[in-house]
Amino acid sequence: MSRPLSEHEVRLRDGTAVSVRPIRREDTEALRRFYGRLSEETIHQRFFGPYPELDEERARYFTHLDGERRFALVALDPENPGEIIGVTRYDRDEDDQSRAEYAVVVEDAWQGRGLGTALTRAIVDEARERGVLCLHALVLPENRRMVRVLQGLGLPELVRWQDGVELFEIDLRPDG
Ligand SMILES: CC(C)(COP(=O)(O)OP(=O)(O)OC[C@H]1O[C@@H](n2cnc3c(N)ncnc32)[C@H](O)[C@@H]1OP(=O)(O)O)[C@@H](O)C(=O)NCCC(=O)NCCS
Repeated sequence: MSRPLSEHEVRLRDGTAVSVRPIRREDTEALRRFYGRLSEETIHQRFFGPYPELDEERARYFTHLDGERRFALVALDPENPGEIIGVTRYDRDEDDQSRAEYAVVVEDAWQGRGLGTALTRAIVDEARERGVLCLHALVLPENRRMVRVLQGLGLPELVRWQDGVELFEIDLRPDG
């Protein structure tokens, strides 16, 4: 049984404290507002193309998670805790539940301050706690910031090319 999930604080590089907690069903509208604030560039780096407006059905898909097969954390604006400033998630592979696809996105105004790294470290801990042994992520080759996030974890990694993007595999095994 996994430990209970709770809100906790992470520190950004400048010392700002940011609350992080599992995504909730009630976050649907806040998630839509968050996606609405993302620049085209950020959307492109996350989805490799334009992303249509996050309609309610799609937003519900991202917020109604079972916590086991699909899991996500949100970071909240310290000045306005009703607003999301970053999201990270993993979805287990259908054919191998010990592997999961991972992604992270930080609101433009909050990028470059350490939040993507903090969210990634938090979801690595949550994934490990639930028996995930490998997280994989697709990253555009020009997305050096994301590469730095992954390489900065200090975990064994394997990088392969897949259809013009880099496929990172992060090994979470304790002795990996
Ligand atoms: C990629 C992303 C999640 C990183 O989050 P972030 O909060 O901006 O990143 P951090 O502040 O934690 O910085 C991560 C690293 O990138 C470095 N960095 C910061 N700005 C950079 C830049 N413009 N170019 C290259 N590296 C940069 C930081 O120094 C840090 O490296 P370090 O730990 O070795 O010092 C965020 O920028 C984002 O949401 N981008 C758009 C969506 C996306 O690309 N998602 C990934 C697809 S899975």
